[in-house]
Amino acid sequence: MSTPRASGDAEQITARDRVEQLRAEILRHNHLYHAQNSPEISDADFDALFAELQRLEADFPELASSDSPTQTVGAPPGRTFAVVEHRRRMLSLGNAFDAEELRGWQQRAADLLDREEWAFVTEPKIDGLAIALVYERGRLVQAATRGDGRAGEDVTANLRAIEAVPNELEGDPPPLFEVRGEVYMPKAGFDAMNAEIALANEERLAEGRAALTLYANPRNAAAGSVRQKDASVTATRPLNIGIYQLGWCDEAITPDTHWETLGWLSEFGFLTTPEAARHDDIDNALTACERWTERRDTQAFEMDGVVVKVDDLGLQADLGIVGREPRWAIAWKFPPQEASTVVERILVNVGRTGTINPYARLRPVRVGGVQVTNATLHNLDDIHRKDIREGDTVVIRRAGEVIPQVVRPVLERRPESSVPWTMPATCPVCGFDTVRDADDAMHYCSNRSCPAILQRSLEHFASRGAMDIRGLGERQIALLLQLELVHDAADIYTLPGKREVLGRIPSLGQKVKRGGEEMYEAGKRIENLLGAIEASKSRGLAYLLVGLGIRHVGGENATLLAEEFGSLDAILLAPREALADVDGVGPIIAQSIVDWAMDGEHWSLVHRLQAAGVEDEIQRTDEEPVETPLEGNRFVLTGRFAEMTRPEAEARLKSLGAGVGSSVSKNTTALFAGDAAGSKRKKAEALGLPIWDEDRLVTVLQDPSLVSVWLTEAEPSEAI
Ligand code: IVH
Repeated sequence: MSTPRASGDAEQITARDRVEQLRAEILRHNHLYHAQNSPEISDADFDALFAELQRLEADFPELASSDSPTQTVGAPPGRTFAVVEHRRRMLSLGNAFDAEELRGWQQRAADLLDREEWAFVTEPKIDGLAIALVYERGRLVQAATRGDGRAGEDVTANLRAIEAVPNELEGDPPPLFEVRGEVYMPKAGFDAMNAEIALANEERLAEGRAALTLYANPRNAAAGSVRQKDASVTATRPLNIGIYQLGWCDEAITPDTHWETLGWLSEFGFLTTPEAARHDDIDNALTACERWTERRDTQAFEMDGVVVKVDDLGLQADLGIVGREPRWAIAWKFPPQEASTVVERILVNVGRTGTINPYARLRPVRVGGVQVTNATLHNLDDIHRKDIREGDTVVIRRAGEVIPQVVRPVLERRPESSVPWTMPATCPVCGFDTVRDADDAMHYCSNRSCPAILQRSLEHFASRGAMDIRGLGERQIALLLQLELVHDAADIYTLPGKREVLGRIPSLGQKVKRGGEEMYEAGKRIENLLGAIEASKSRGLAYLLVGLGIRHVGGENATLLAEEFGSLDAILLAPREALADVDGVGPIIAQSIVDWAMDGEHWSLVHRLQAAGVEDEIQRTDEEPVETPLEGNRFVLTGRFAEMTRPEAEARLKSLGAGVGSSVSKNTTALFAGDAAGSKRKKAEALGLPIWDEDRLVTVLQDPSLVSVWLTEAEPSEAI
């Protein structure tokens, strides 16, 4: 590879152009991000531009310039607030994207310090905005934003309005000092605030006023809330603060380490960064970073990394600053959760209640370490409000396990030919017309027998939040519908009578060889499925109610309804007012239940479920005490039983009050072992637990009192 210095003029000219282009772009994006709170590109894309500029400036030192964005931080302060000069510059942080980079940073420090090991502190890198707070004689006298690092905006009145920021300190603080921290908006507060804005917008639009823009993320929301001209608005915003540093202090009474400083500051009433931890060496600091990467979503606030800091303040001073970054701290960055990509198509699928759900088919992109190809788009209004079109470059975001969201389009990259998206006039599955429901802004398929609705309803019925029929997933349901083995949820309970037919389906059955011929018959998979179907019968009223898929009826209100009315019939026959009167239910859910019960087809489904033996009444333990003679016992079942399936046996033991576990431990009362019992039996033997056969299982279900007899019998032999 030729060195850049040795390359010709032509290359330098292009490098110069690119450097200028990058600087202009970065400054513009910086302004959009910091001053306007309305970024156009993702953080990851911004980091890439920044890294490219850094690389070019390193390769072509003659192009370096002191006013390059690589030498300054953020955007210069805006116009609306007074300017505050920082007594000590507010710095930025270098990044480490992997273990090698983190170790490289530590090694460079080790070379400078001429020592190998020392302690570190790790803290969450909170995604908010940096604030410097000056306290004089225990009172907050000035608060400033970071601005460009040298001067920021005076936001004292706004910070005084934030409850988490102490106006008066406790204890015995130094007479004059500055602390620095991150003001942020917790995720829950952010969601609630955006929901409020959306609600206010409905009113504004109805009155012909312009809608307020929703905040794109908690960071922008925090920044926007702090930079309010009217501090009383700031006061209403759900803001919090994490103090992470002592900026400066006139008295030399401060602790010697960063770790002690955090403790010291909290004595004055400051909320320091949560979950800070001290580590003896870089290996342990790295382990902490890796752990954070796995649990980044567990915090109430958004984190964009972990800050690793040299603990000893003397060492920090020795290491000093280079450019805009200290050598004594670095940001361990998480893989980005935002990225930009292209919306190739906007497609729709049909939901359980017949909703037509639009989603974006994306050019594949990695977000937060996961390859993403689809993102939800909610409904037509949402698409129009965000103005997302096919062909658009969009910013997408993944938060936790949640399906990725399209945040916004990048309007500058919109193709000229682009047109607003429209909802298809017909259902993509059955071809019936789509209709819009004025109540909830959703479009629906007008065919109530749409095959997609059936498929989704059965998936919902069998799902874990409802009847929990393991082994009956999307694929199996599609197959059963296609073969016309089921037509609705009640048909699921006819499957145990169709064991043979099911066995012959290659993807369900078990391959066997008979007389040189390969064929399929009912095997373990089908037995498990039928067992799960059987067990689901005693899942209980609340889950059954959820499984029916009545609009708005979910886990929580289903439980309330079950407890209040006691049986499915009572719920479905209750007058609307009685339903609405239940705490936590209300008129919308009540109406939806009444509407559902008006439909004769739904009653035939209910009757067939009841006839199949699906439990549709609450088992009241207080009113009519159900006998639970096996209470206090905990059994584990293993192997195959001839008389009944394992799930069935488990359900029956549970109904007698026993606990049923999946693994053997010293708390297990006894192991019921059928044929071909394996490792559980060995473990039970090793623990000296009673091991009982199928005969005993059948007997105990008839006469549970025998358990205590057998247990006392077992003791003497165990004692030998
Ligand atoms: S220490 C000299 N600790 O990240 C470095 N910063 O990219 C001083 N930030 O400007 C910063 N959480 O706004 C530090 N626990 C934390 C932080 C944190 C968030 C922000 C801060 C800083 C930026 C640097």
